[in-house]
Amino acid sequence: MAAAVADYRVKNYSQQKMKKGEEDTITLELVKNPDILAELCKNKSHQVVVGFCAESENLLENAKAKIEKKGCDFLIANDISRKDIGFGVDENEVSILDKNGGITKLEKASKGVIARKIWERVVEK
Ligand code: CTP
Repeated sequence: MAAAVADYRVKNYSQQKMKKGEEDTITLELVKNPDILAELCKNKSHQVVVGFCAESENLLENAKAKIEKKGCDFLIANDISRKDIGFGVDENEVSILDKNGGITKLEKASKGVIARKIWERVVEK
C-alpha cells in the first residue's frame, strides 16, 4: 500500500468551470476519504498487508501508533523531512515495523535495494 492517498476530497464539485467572484479568498469544504489500508486490514484473512507511512517528525513514535491503528502486518516508515532520501531522489532509508513490535532499520541505499530488502523481510515473515 505504497500510494500516497489523499486524506480528504472536495465536498461539492462543479460540472462547469467555476467563475471567479468578487471575493479575494474562498473556502473549499473537504470530506474525509475512506482509509483503504485500515479497511483492508479489518477484512483480511490470510493476506500479508504492507502499509507505508510518511512522517515529518517523531518518525518511530508516529509509525508505532500507525501500525497499531491500521492493523497491518508491516509498516514501512519514511522520514520525509530529509532532502537526501525519499521524494525526488534515487535513495531512501526506512524502518520496517512489524505487528509484533519489531523494528528493522534499513541503511540508506538505492530504492531498488530498499525494495528488495522489504520484499525479503515480507517473504521471510
Ligand atoms: N492510506 C490509505 N487510505 C487513506 C490514507 C492512507 O490506504 N485514505 C494508506 C497509505 O497508502 C499508507 C498508509 O495508509 O500505506 C499510511 O499513510 P500516511 O499518509 O502515512 O498516513 P495517514 O493514514 O494518512 O495518517 P496521517 O496523514 O494523519 O499521518
